[in-house]
Amino acid sequence: MAPVENLDSPMDPALVQTEELLGMDLLRACEAAVLNTYRWIGKGDKIAADDAASDAIRGMLQITDMCGTCTIGEGQKDEAPGIFLGEKLGTWREGSPVVSIAVDPIDGTTLTAKGLNGALSVIAAAKGSQADDRRLAAIPSYYVEKIAVGPRVREGTGMVRLEAGVEQNLEIVALKLGKRVRDLTVCLLDRPRHEQLIADVRRTGAAIRLISDGDIAAAIAPSIPDSNVDVYLGIGGSPEAVLAAAAIRCLGGELLARVWPRDDAERKQLESAGHGDLIGRVFTCADMAVGEDVVFVASGITDNPMLRGVQINGSIAITYSVVMRARSRTVRYVKAYHDLRRKTIRLASVGRHVRL
Ligand code: FBP
Repeated sequence: MAPVENLDSPMDPALVQTEELLGMDLLRACEAAVLNTYRWIGKGDKIAADDAASDAIRGMLQITDMCGTCTIGEGQKDEAPGIFLGEKLGTWREGSPVVSIAVDPIDGTTLTAKGLNGALSVIAAAKGSQADDRRLAAIPSYYVEKIAVGPRVREGTGMVRLEAGVEQNLEIVALKLGKRVRDLTVCLLDRPRHEQLIADVRRTGAAIRLISDGDIAAAIAPSIPDSNVDVYLGIGGSPEAVLAAAAIRCLGGELLARVWPRDDAERKQLESAGHGDLIGRVFTCADMAVGEDVVFVASGITDNPMLRGVQINGSIAITYSVVMRARSRTVRYVKAYHDLRRKTIRLASVGRHVRL
């Protein structure tokens, strides 16, 4: 039997049950987001898609048994159904678990609007004390530099580093995976800011998989055994890094992130807000998704390396989701059949369940 790692405190059965129940509630919230977004896939309206997903997630999170506070959400918009930073979520019943909630109702709004692969709905939760708001807290810059690898690369001695060159990092990955560098696949966002990085990767001979959006799933991909992605590299959204970190903690991989100010103005703004010390700091998964009581849930909107997208078969909608827990590293895939003649979901905008 493999040695037990990761258990700094004995498992309290009540705690385990709380996490499991919370995971199922969050799963239903993601499923609801996907079901409410389905009609917007490929319809060219990313705002409408995002609003539909947010409305359903928020509607479900409002009735979840927890004292939840949103630590990663959207900016507060007038009348918008989006879930905003600092918003109280859950029933707030006495004795309910205190949790930080990070949410991205759609990672890949443009992909959804264009009907392209790679979009998913994501929620992460971390249990903690009320005073502790650093669990799943957003890194205050717009973008971070990222490198994500799977468990086999993370384990043992020698690890990739953000400070190291691409060639050196890919040699480490190749060695740990028992592959040649030219047989590696590196995933990157297709952006002009990655021109040099793409040239550096090409020089090593490794293959590049360019994606147009959706770097939560892309950063998680190296930790998924059959994703065919060995490394995720590049500059992407900061909130997306924290959400991906929650999943990667559950899967045993690693994501390193470092603040990447877009320009001098952002650098100065970070400094004047007292975040100057964060510039240059490398965040690990454990820094971004703090503690053992981390739960990650996602449902596929369109097909992506982790999950298939929602499908409609006659009057049945099929959703594909995953629930993971950091403490036990259990990864549970859930395929759900929803009968659209009966299915209702709760929308925050109307404050009640409605038919789809
Ligand atoms: P949205 O779903 O909010 O459009 O974000 C998609 C995304 O591709 C993220 O996955 C990624 O981290 C970020 O945008 C990259 O930002 P940018 O498009 O500005 O390069």
